[in-house]
Amino acid sequence: MSYKLISKPLDSYQIQMVNDIIDKNGSTKKDILNTLIELQDSLDEKYIGEEVATIVSNKIGIPLVDLYDILTFYDMLSVEPRAKYKVEVCTCASCYLNESDTLIDMVEKNLGVKLGEHTEDWLFEFEKCSCVGACDIGPVIKIGNDIYGNLDEKVVESIFADLRAKKDL
Ligand code: FES
Repeated sequence: MSYKLISKPLDSYQIQMVNDIIDKNGSTKKDILNTLIELQDSLDEKYIGEEVATIVSNKIGIPLVDLYDILTFYDMLSVEPRAKYKVEVCTCASCYLNESDTLIDMVEKNLGVKLGEHTEDWLFEFEKCSCVGACDIGPVIKIGNDIYGNLDEKVVESIFADLRAKKDL
């Protein structure tokens, strides 16, 4: 995936938010994963950039190099800007047999991007995922923590229309 978004420096509100989240979760290394996930979810570009990593490192007392080991180990964490919605189609056996390829075509048509790309407005990025345990309603789309199954073109259209409608919320 190629990223062209240039991140803006954190403003004072965001710096305060980052500090508040660290304070709320505790400043021990034990709590760091929850802290990083919450920080990532709370930031507009959905990733832990260098500025945020430096604040976490200083506040928790973990060397940056160790922090980056954590950030790059877990799939759910990112050190690069992400779209607001990560759209994933499951391509594991059961979904594949239920025509996940057709679902991929539907999503590509609706978003106007191919697998591995993001939309121009950074609202959606599109990827494959492994089984999410909803094989009985497959093929499925995972968007954030939500799973959508029993899909046809109309349902897919309405899912993305709903998300576009609340893009500024
Ligand atoms: S194979 Fe797709 S949800 Fe299980």
